[in-house]
Amino acid sequence: MNASNNVKWVVITGGSSGIGAALLRRLVRCEPTLNCLAVGRRLEKLELTCKQAFVGAEVKMSPDRLKIVAADISTSEGISSVVSSLPPGAPVKYLIHNAGVLGPIAPLVDIDRESWRQVVATNLEAPLFLTQALMPNLKQCVADGEKARVLHVSSGAAMNSYEGWGPYCITKAGLNMMYRCLSTELYHRGILVGSVRPGVVDTPMQDIVRGYDGPIENFPSLRKFRELHDCGKLESPDTVATYLHWLLSELSDEEFSSEEKDIRNSRGDSRWERFLAERKDF
Ligand SMILES: NC(=O)c1ccc[n+]([C@@H]2O[C@H](COP(=O)([O-])OP(=O)(O)OC[C@H]3O[C@@H](n4cnc5c(N)ncnc54)[C@H](OP(=O)(O)O)[C@@H]3O)[C@@H](O)[C@H]2O)c1
Repeated sequence: MNASNNVKWVVITGGSSGIGAALLRRLVRCEPTLNCLAVGRRLEKLELTCKQAFVGAEVKMSPDRLKIVAADISTSEGISSVVSSLPPGAPVKYLIHNAGVLGPIAPLVDIDRESWRQVVATNLEAPLFLTQALMPNLKQCVADGEKARVLHVSSGAAMNSYEGWGPYCITKAGLNMMYRCLSTELYHRGILVGSVRPGVVDTPMQDIVRGYDGPIENFPSLRKFRELHDCGKLESPDTVATYLHWLLSELSDEEFSSEEKDIRNSRGDSRWERFLAERKDF
């Protein structure tokens, strides 16, 4: 593949809300030389998020560098729309698989097939098939002389079973193994695959968790999540976005891919704390 001389791209799924929207805001301020493609199903929400990303920024990306695509990545058509939103052969430097759904909160033995499939298609299949579809773009980045990074947004639920969250826990556990398999396969081709647990974050997904109104025996952790919120113990989306940006931009190749990162385990890491302190008020 020849060098493209093109500006490199960041592709973020779930850019319309929560962690993805905060990451978009951060990239607008901190990576003005990259182009960015934000993906979500709701066009109006994406448009609003992009508009807000520029508010109050001193140094910022030129608005024509930020593109959006309304696409349902749980479908083949959605994946194709993402790919065709990029210029042909555009090098992708960062691909962030952030879109995710919790699915119905209910005992696993009661989950209907349609709901199960939607969670699997969104949380597990979409990252795989989007990575596959964007392989030419990731390889182009490598051909242009820079390694590419793919980041999976995982969860503590990948390792711990929460009653009532069966499809979510199972798909996040699968996503963790997918990251490990892809990391092994792609590392020596210059495409680094990493994974991150963002903690419990103050986003619309947590609103859904706290808003659960079914039988408490089906979701006994409800009280814990409400308490975390009421005690102000949720991570802010901006801190998590800064953490993701740190992983993508500062960690060595080996560190980025070697094990799933957990924001909670990075407390006390002086490099992370310095990055957070220096670039907090952006
Ligand atoms: N919040 C937490 O405490 C927490 C903890 C651990 C891990 N996470 C993970 O962090 C990631 C981001 O979650 P969040 O908390 O920021 O939740 P959020 O605010 O609900 O955001 C989810 C995003 O995913 C997009 N999305 C969902 N299904 C999609 C589909 N089929 N096609 C395209 N986009 C889709 C949504 O946009 P549309 O609805 O417009 O499509 C939205 O932008 C998820 O993977 C989640 O599992 C969150």
